[in-house]
Amino acid sequence: MSRAKRKLDHISHALKTGQKQDTGFGDIRFIHQSLPNTNVDNVSLTAYFGELKVSSPIFINAMTGGGGAVTEKINSQLAELACILDIPLAVGSQMAAIKDPAEKNSYQIVRKKNPRGVIFANIGSEATIDQAKACVDMLEANCLQVHLNVIQELVMPEGDRHFEGALSRVEKIANHVNVPVIVKEVGFGMSMETIKKIVSTGVSIVDIGGFGGTNFSKIENERRLSPYSFFDDWGIPTAISIAEARNAAENITIAASGGIQTALDVAKALALGANVAGLAGKVLQWLTANGLEFTLEKINGMLYELKLILAALGAEDISALQRTPLVIHGNTLSWLKQRGIN
Ligand code: FNR
Repeated sequence: MSRAKRKLDHISHALKTGQKQDTGFGDIRFIHQSLPNTNVDNVSLTAYFGELKVSSPIFINAMTGGGGAVTEKINSQLAELACILDIPLAVGSQMAAIKDPAEKNSYQIVRKKNPRGVIFANIGSEATIDQAKACVDMLEANCLQVHLNVIQELVMPEGDRHFEGALSRVEKIANHVNVPVIVKEVGFGMSMETIKKIVSTGVSIVDIGGFGGTNFSKIENERRLSPYSFFDDWGIPTAISIAEARNAAENITIAASGGIQTALDVAKALALGANVAGLAGKVLQWLTANGLEFTLEKINGMLYELKLILAALGAEDISALQRTPLVIHGNTLSWLKQRGIN
C-alpha cells in the first residue's frame, strides 16, 4: 500500500473508530471553592511550551500531510485555525515529503497560511539527523516533534519490527537540530521509565500522548485480515501518564494529549502537572464533519470555559491551577498507589 493511501486511511479510520475511551480523567475530581476571590476577566491562560510563551495551553497536535490534495486542504484549514486562535500547530510525520518531495506542499501550506505562527515539525524516531533537519527547514519550524509509535508499527502489516537504538537517535537529533525537540507518543502513553530515559538524553519537553482518544491499534487493525486486537486496550491512560511523567521529572515541560476533548479535560491535565494540552482526533472530527467556523467556535468556547473553571477554582493563572488540590479515585488511584506515586 502506498504511503499516501495509508495517510488517507488513517484519517477515515480515525474518524470511524471513535475517540472516547477511558482517559482516566473521570477519576479526577476538583474540590469546589465557595470563596475563590477571582474575576473571570482577570484569568490569564498564558502558558509555556519549554521556553516558548504561548497565549493559551491548547495546541493542535500532529495529524496530517503526505496524502496529496486531501491532506493539503486539511492542513491549510488547520493552519488557518491555528493562526486565528494564535495557538501552536504540529504537522503529521514529514517522512512522506522526505521520500517524495512532491508531497512537500501538503506540509508547507501551514507556513504559507500562518507565516508568523508557532509550528512544530514531525518525524519518527527512525529518522537520521539530516532527515530531522530537513523537516525543520521545510517549515521553518519552531520545534521538532519526534514520535514514538511502537504499537502502531507492530500492528501495521508492513510496520517496523526493529526498535533498537531509538533513544540514541533521539539524542543525536536533539543535539543537532537548531530548535527544541519534543518527544511524543501517539496514544499509548509514556511511563516513568520512558520519561527518565528521554530526560537522560537532554530532551526536556515530552508529549505523553496517552490512551483514551485516537487509538492507532484499532486504526491499524481495521486494515488487518486477522486483527491483533490484544493491542486495542493497550496503553497508559492520559491522566495516569501525566502523573507518571511529572513524578519522573519535576522540571520538564509536559504536553498532555490523548483523548483531550473538553475544557474540563484540559483543566484536569494541567492540575495533574501538564503545562499544555494537545487535541488531534477531535479537531479533525469537528473540521471534517462541520467545517472551519464550527471548529473555531468549539476551540474558542473551550478557551472561555477553561477561564470559567480556573475562576471557580480560585486560580488566576495556569501555575495556580497546577497547585490546586484534587481528589483521585477508582482505577487511577489504584494505579498510582501501585506505582508509588502520590
Ligand atoms: C495522528 N497522530 C500522529 N502523531 C504523530 O506524531 N505523527 C503523525 O503523523 C500522526 N498522524 C496522525 C494522524 C491522524 C489521522 C490522527 C488522528 C492522529 C497522533 C496524534 O498526534 C495524537 O498523539 C493522538 O491522536 C492522540 O491524540 P487525540 O487524537 O486522542 O487527541
